[in-house]
Amino acid sequence: MTPIPALAQRRSVPSRQLGAPGPTDAQTRSLLEAALRVPDHGRLAPWRFLRIEGDARHTLGERLAARALALDANAPAAAIDKDRQRFSFAPLVVAVIATPVEGHKVPVIEQLLSGGAVCFALLQAAQGLGFGAQWLTGWAAYDRVILDGLGLAAHEQLLGFIHIGTPQGEVPERLRPSLADKLTDWTP
Ligand SMILES: Cc1cc2nc3c(=O)[nH]c(=O)nc-3n(C[C@H](O)[C@H](O)[C@H](O)COP(=O)(O)O)c2cc1C
Repeated sequence: MTPIPALAQRRSVPSRQLGAPGPTDAQTRSLLEAALRVPDHGRLAPWRFLRIEGDARHTLGERLAARALALDANAPAAAIDKDRQRFSFAPLVVAVIATPVEGHKVPVIEQLLSGGAVCFALLQAAQGLGFGAQWLTGWAAYDRVILDGLGLAAHEQLLGFIHIGTPQGEVPERLRPSLADKLTDWTP
């Protein structure tokens, strides 16, 4: 497959439709190695990975459920259950964490953009190896208690949970933005 069809056919598989088998350890390493090759102004490498696999996924789900209840004791049971299940489907979840360097001549926005590219590259690499993947954040990616539990320092940001596994069914294509709406020619 040439790179262009790979990009042209890129799509997410919802995490609920991802299951076993997940990538082997060697496959995971090649996915992550590939994702490290993103453009990176200043070569700061201002990101890192956190691998969440096996029982750790369920523990994280339990923490989300407990935190959601602590935030709203009247939250509907279905919502709490959804939080409990969030990390239970895909066998592998990689949290991509931005580790921006403040006060550097490379603005923080550029460092975060590089981290976004890491997330995208990881999706692309997973699809290239025949897996399905989805980039999710959700409230947990912005909740300080959850982030503390994941070991993020105060200056770090969780850019995405990349859920990776084997698609368990067909996913309908969604309407894509039309290029005509998005492209203009600059005519000075
Ligand atoms: C930064 C970021 C965060 C996202 N977080 C969520 C999320 O929390 N929940 C969700 O349903 N989709 C989320 N998405 C969207 C999905 O990753 C995905 O784009 C969507 O399921 C549509 O599929 P597609 O990638 O094939 O267009 C997020 C996307 C980005 C870029």
